[in-house]
Amino acid sequence: MVKRNVNFNPGPAALPLDVLKIVQEELLDYQDSGMSILESSHRSKEFEAINDQTIALVRELLGLGTDYQVLFLGGGASTQFALIPMNFVGDGQMAAYVDTGEFASKALRECQIVAKAHVAFSSKDEKYSLVPKLNEIKYPENVAYLHMCSNNTIEGTQFHEFPNTGNVPLVADMSSDIASRRLDYKKFSMFYAGAQKNLGPAGVTLVVIRDDFLMKAKKDIPTIFSYKTHVDNKSLYNTPPVFGVYIMKLVLEWIKSKGGLAGVEKTNVAKKDLLYGAIDAAPDFYKGLAEKNSRSWMNVTMRLPTEDIENKFIADAKKEGLLGLKGHRSVGGIRFSIYNAVSLEDVQKTVDFMGRFCKSS
Ligand SMILES: Cc1ncc(COP(=O)(O)O)c(C=O)c1O
Repeated sequence: MVKRNVNFNPGPAALPLDVLKIVQEELLDYQDSGMSILESSHRSKEFEAINDQTIALVRELLGLGTDYQVLFLGGGASTQFALIPMNFVGDGQMAAYVDTGEFASKALRECQIVAKAHVAFSSKDEKYSLVPKLNEIKYPENVAYLHMCSNNTIEGTQFHEFPNTGNVPLVADMSSDIASRRLDYKKFSMFYAGAQKNLGPAGVTLVVIRDDFLMKAKKDIPTIFSYKTHVDNKSLYNTPPVFGVYIMKLVLEWIKSKGGLAGVEKTNVAKKDLLYGAIDAAPDFYKGLAEKNSRSWMNVTMRLPTEDIENKFIADAKKEGLLGLKGHRSVGGIRFSIYNAVSLEDVQKTVDFMGRFCKSS
């Protein structure tokens, strides 16, 4: 039996065991090609098939038509923070940003380097413990786009609805909640996600752009930074993160086998209900950091009465095989990252531990 701890890491994060087993099985000889996919050309028929199938799976699972272009790029979500304003904010224009956390504010700052940005809402003064109600998001009608971060990984908050922005293109960083719940993805002109939480390993970033938005992209930027380059070349303008795309395909197939987004959502709701239930059952001991209406289904954050008790919680949990619980350094406390690959049984085990820990402290 292989030893497998419960992995609450925020990213890179848990991958489905079934996926890892397929990778292991296929690693030395990929589908009778006599070589590993790690060694294959990105222009080989094997990788071409993987690329096409992964694009098709993204569209199928997220409910998108062929007017949405699907890219697999290197550089992480952080690179998109810079590329989006470079590509889409025209001369004299400005873009609007909803500032709900550390990553959302990084995206905003990148825009401010190359263009003008309007802050449409900020919960900075509330230590990013909440996301706004939709009517609190305010921006001029002529902005190039409105940028949001759907799930704030560090703070543990999440949008549970998205604005109708009319003619203003809606752009979202979905790094930490992509493909974790049903959502009207067609509301977005563009969204993107580093794969290393819900979609696969670090090193590949999913970028999805609708044709009508892509048409507005600027032409006078370096070739490699232009989304149009990557769309025109099906992500093969330069060498793509081949292995990451291959694993993303396997993860998407795994999601499909679980009943697609409706299937994983059902489990994710049960998981977050268990964890928030355990927090709310001991409010003097476990203090959730996010306002209740803004609570994330993917990253559950809390503090305990003292830092010493938090450290003991992490150490005792480790003894039970529950790893990756330390909160982000900017927030402290405990964070459970419960992405798709973390099972309901593992969360139940954790909640049982929380009950015992609280009683014995
Ligand atoms: C919401 C969000 N956006 C952006 C990033 C940065 O992603 P990357 O490290 O792929 O650049 C992260 C990473 O954790 C994230 O959680």
